[in-house]
Amino acid sequence: MKVLGIESTCDETSAAIVEDGNQILSHVIASQTEHAQFGGVFPELASRLHLDLMLPVIEEALIVEPDVIAVAEGPGLMGAILMGVSAAKALALAWDKPLVGVNHIEAHLYAAMMKTQVFPALGVVISGGHTLLLKMESVTEYEVIGRTVDDSIGEAFDKVSKMMKGPYPGGPFIEKLAKEGNPNAFGFKGGHVKRAPLNFSFSGLKTNVLYTLRENPNLADVAASFQRAAFFDLMKKMKGALETFDAQAIYFGGGVSNSLTLKDLFIGSFDQPVFFPPKDLSLDNGAMIAGLGYHIYQRYGDQRKLLEPYPRNPLYSASLK
Ligand code: KG4
Ligand code: ZN
Repeated sequence: MKVLGIESTCDETSAAIVEDGNQILSHVIASQTEHAQFGGVFPELASRLHLDLMLPVIEEALIVEPDVIAVAEGPGLMGAILMGVSAAKALALAWDKPLVGVNHIEAHLYAAMMKTQVFPALGVVISGGHTLLLKMESVTEYEVIGRTVDDSIGEAFDKVSKMMKGPYPGGPFIEKLAKEGNPNAFGFKGGHVKRAPLNFSFSGLKTNVLYTLRENPNLADVAASFQRAAFFDLMKKMKGALETFDAQAIYFGGGVSNSLTLKDLFIGSFDQPVFFPPKDLSLDNGAMIAGLGYHIYQRYGDQRKLLEPYPRNPLYSASLK
C-alpha cells in the first residue's frame, strides 16, 4: 500500500510516498531558510511559504499514484498545519482516496522505527517542544510515563545559547562549544520532580547556568558542564523508566537526538539496543508522516470526517491506551 505523506507543521514543506510503512519511493523536502534572519520561525511567513511550496513539492513527490493520503495534523503552528491539512483534504476529495491524520511527534519517533520494530520499547522524544518518555507496545499504542514540567530539553539548549549570545537553534552551537570545555568544571544537575521521578525539570539548571555565566566568562566550560548535566539527567530518568517494564529496545526522536555527543554517550549504555532516526529522516519530513500514516490507516481506517488540525495537543489522544 502506497501512502502520500504531507508535512507542514513548522518550517519544512515536505511530501513523500512510502510503501507499506517502510519503503521510501519518493521524498521531497523544501526547507524555508527565510526565517533565519528573524532568529526563529516567523509563523505567518511560514504559512505563506507553505502556500507557495505545497503544490510544487507534492507534484514532485507524486511519482506513483498513492492509495492513501496522510497529513501531519499537529502539534505545530496553526496556520502552517492548516496549509498541509487543506491540501490533503482537497486531494482526498478530488481523488476519492482515504485520508488519515498523523501526530508529528509520534512520527519523529517512527522515523527510528521504520526499519526495525521491537516491542515493548522505551520511546524517548527530545525536541525543541517536547521531552517525553513513552512505554510503547506498538507503533500506535503507548503510554506517557515521563514528561517535562517546565522547559523541554531542546528549549534549555536554545536558552543557554541565547544567554551566551549564540544562535537559534542553540543545540549545535552548545555541542560545538562544549568540545573545547571541561564537562566537570561545574556541578550542574537536572531537576528532581517530587513524587514523579521520571519527570523532567530544566528551569533550575537553566537558572544555575545564568548565574554561573555572570561570574565566569569561560563559555566552553559552562557549555560542556550544562550539556553533561542535561544528558546525564536524561540517562538517569531513562534508566528509571527501564526499571518499570521489560523494554526490548529504545527509540529516539526529535532534534536533540541529532547530537553526536548524545549518541556517543547513549549507545552502549543500556542493556537494550538503541535506535536513532536515520540522517535523512531526523528533521521534519513527509516520509515519517507517510510511514506512520500507513499504520494509522491499518488501525483506524479513513479519518476524513474527524480530521482537524491541533496546534497544541502534544500527543495523538486516540493512540493512548
Ligand atoms: O525536533 P526539532 O527539529 O524541532 C521541534 O522541536 O519540533 O528539534 C529542535 C531542537 C532545538 O531545540 C535544537 O536546539 C535541538 O533540537 N538540537 C540540539 C542539537 N541539534 C538540534 N540539541 C542539542 N544538541 C544538538 N546537536
Ligand atoms: Zn519536528
